[in-house]
Amino acid sequence: MSLRRFQNASTIPSEILGDHLKFRNGRETQNRFLKAALTEILSTYSLEEPKKHGLPTESILNIYDKWGNGKFGMILTSNVLVDPKNLEAAGNAIIFQEGESLERRALFSHWAKLMKKDGALAVMQLSHAGRQTPEFVNPTPWSASDIQLVSAARNTTYGKPNALTTEQVKTEVVDRFVYAAKYAYECGFDGVQLHGAHGYLLSQFTSPTTNKRTDKYGGTIENRQRIILEIYDAIRAEIPPSTGFLVGIKTNSVEFQAEGTTLEDAIEMCTVYENKGFDFVELSGGTYEKMLFSYERESTKKREAFFVEFAEQIRPVFEKTVVYLTGGFRTVNAMVDAISKNATQGIGLGRPITAEPNLPKKILEGSVGSAIQDCFDPNDMSTSALASGTQMEQMGRNSMIASQGDVMHQITDFSQAESVKRFSDAMLVHFQQAQQDIEHGKRPKPIVIFD
Ligand SMILES: Cc1cc2nc3c(=O)[nH]c(=O)nc-3n(C[C@H](O)[C@H](O)[C@H](O)COP(=O)(O)O)c2cc1C
Repeated sequence: MSLRRFQNASTIPSEILGDHLKFRNGRETQNRFLKAALTEILSTYSLEEPKKHGLPTESILNIYDKWGNGKFGMILTSNVLVDPKNLEAAGNAIIFQEGESLERRALFSHWAKLMKKDGALAVMQLSHAGRQTPEFVNPTPWSASDIQLVSAARNTTYGKPNALTTEQVKTEVVDRFVYAAKYAYECGFDGVQLHGAHGYLLSQFTSPTTNKRTDKYGGTIENRQRIILEIYDAIRAEIPPSTGFLVGIKTNSVEFQAEGTTLEDAIEMCTVYENKGFDFVELSGGTYEKMLFSYERESTKKREAFFVEFAEQIRPVFEKTVVYLTGGFRTVNAMVDAISKNATQGIGLGRPITAEPNLPKKILEGSVGSAIQDCFDPNDMSTSALASGTQMEQMGRNSMIASQGDVMHQITDFSQAESVKRFSDAMLVHFQQAQQDIEHGKRPKPIVIFD
């Protein structure tokens, strides 16, 4: 029996979470829940045949078969990369012209179909990792400027990036995003979300920590944001709003780094997204250099969500753009509070829904008042992210039919201290093996395979 011990977890009326959200093009979600992007790292990575990089596998399809039965309003894919050489991880799904094939189109189309099974909108997150590409994937990735990431995040190293020239911003970035967005549209997705948060390429442009350019893409916020607006315009030139296709963005509300994106910057950028016509914005925060997924700040201790105090201040700029807030939500109380106090319209969920892929359904039915509470240190994002990766691998082992309709089939219950202890042991072995693999020039396994 999974445990839910959150102090704040009394079951309160949750009808508000079932409200539809309406986008400016007239489309609607069936409720306020968003399945946030969670990298599975379960797509193909083929050094022998780079054309076969980034194909979604059966495992990915099985995972979304489960979330497609979870009663989300909107489901985001994991980050789908637009450049096979600038990956967040070896094993990401990728859309790129050089990899065009009927097989790839069929797999992405099937993926979209599974996401929509019980009424969710299927939206693909598009990303370019820039300098956050692991060194063993590419020692010289692209970035806004040639500032190397020096970080122990995710136990990997990162090479010194090359700054894109003005022309390359178009050919290596804008054109690739547009190609992938069109591909998503043709495969039946309801929209795309640009990944403009967490230190990936688009936020390497918007953040002064990583953008030292002196051309039209550097300096003022207007210039630093220019690449995102160019991508938006170029996507809309191909797929106008009248098609019903949604275009959104995930953006940082704050970075807490010297020269990093401030709340004032975020307010200014979000005003531009509202005026430009973005259908939705998802607010988050942090980069690999400064991870902000923790419960340590005072407002988070009181209100659970990591960025709620910032969202509250950004929220007034949005009139037509729908706003989602992701990070830290675990109880119905905190979700309802964030909506009632007008910090957000939609509720994004990440780690809780790898433990329980149909959490929205249970909340909407009124059968639970919170997520399952695991026994990991709530401020240890690295370990709980690895555990989430393991749970996704477990979700991917079987389809819904093979799991006899049980979305929780084979998922380890980390509310039990004993399973967390066993997982910690498995993690140690995993890291030792990864170290040896790196020393032998092999690709380390990204996932702790467990149970
Ligand atoms: C395993 C894992 C993978 C993630 N992958 C992505 C990703 O591909 N794109 C993204 O925007 N955020 C990614 N995130 C961040 C989540 O979308 C979310 O913002 C974060 O986990 C905080 O929400 P939570 O507290 O509900 O987990 C990932 C997080 C985890 C734990």
